[in-house]
Amino acid sequence: MVRADLPPVIHEEGTQAQAVSTWSGQAREQAVQRMFTAIAGVYDLNNTLLSFGLHYRWKKLTAAMVPMVEQGTALDVGSGTADLALLVEPRMGVTGRVIASDLNHAMLVEGLKKVSNEGLAAKIHCLQANAEQLGFADNTFDAVTTGFCMRNVGNLAQAVGEIRRVMKPGGTFVCLEFSRPVFGWLRALYDWYSFRLLPWIGTKVARDKTGVYEYLPASIRTFPDQERLCQVLREAGFRQVSYKNLTGGIVAIHVAVK
Ligand SMILES: C[S@@+](CC[C@H](N)C(=O)[O-])C[C@H]1O[C@@H](n2cnc3c(N)ncnc32)[C@H](O)[C@@H]1O
Repeated sequence: MVRADLPPVIHEEGTQAQAVSTWSGQAREQAVQRMFTAIAGVYDLNNTLLSFGLHYRWKKLTAAMVPMVEQGTALDVGSGTADLALLVEPRMGVTGRVIASDLNHAMLVEGLKKVSNEGLAAKIHCLQANAEQLGFADNTFDAVTTGFCMRNVGNLAQAVGEIRRVMKPGGTFVCLEFSRPVFGWLRALYDWYSFRLLPWIGTKVARDKTGVYEYLPASIRTFPDQERLCQVLREAGFRQVSYKNLTGGIVAIHVAVK
């Protein structure tokens, strides 16, 4: 079971089952849910294969951007199988804790297995929550992280505003997301890989029927690039907004302070 019983969480919607049934019903969001439910069991393996093992390095660098806090409280939004939550946990001190939140139950179940295997179930709590309506009290977290989730949300400005709301003043937001490669040749290669090779692998090799391999490149293409995401963060009220490109800008880590 995914644990959803820990303060400071406010369950405006009640139980997990209710959270699923109150899903907004929008076609895009439902499709995202279906995709992650379908791939949850193979998500980690797929990630490693499709990123040539780079995703874990990207996540380590993301976690390293989170300031160390004694007795800290961190939230990882769209945590999925909890990689980032596990990496952030040591930065919250011996008595700190981390909430790994995600919309998708199946992904969180996979995350909880890893958390339990590491013996960290008392420190990392997996919780089903929508990034656009987090349900935590204002000013709750010392740090919020998110990895590869923001391009999946229905309303980015709302999700970013909601993340800022639940952060303590002075808290740090660290966002890892696909971005715009800085070199023309890398953009061309990356487009070929993501728009041609990836969908081919998806249909011919993995025999995918969820559309995830078409969705992935399309969602990357439509997500704000490095500078535009800085602007979204500033418009939400964040300050000291900066970013660092990784792997030639294929992904970027944005850091912002409330
Ligand atoms: C590509 S996975 C990333 C998982 C993990 N953070 C990682 O880096 O491996 C995207 C995750 O975002 C979640 N997600 C999508 N839309 C969401 C939303 N509106 N609120 C919370 N989580 C969401 C999905 O369920 C999925 O687990």
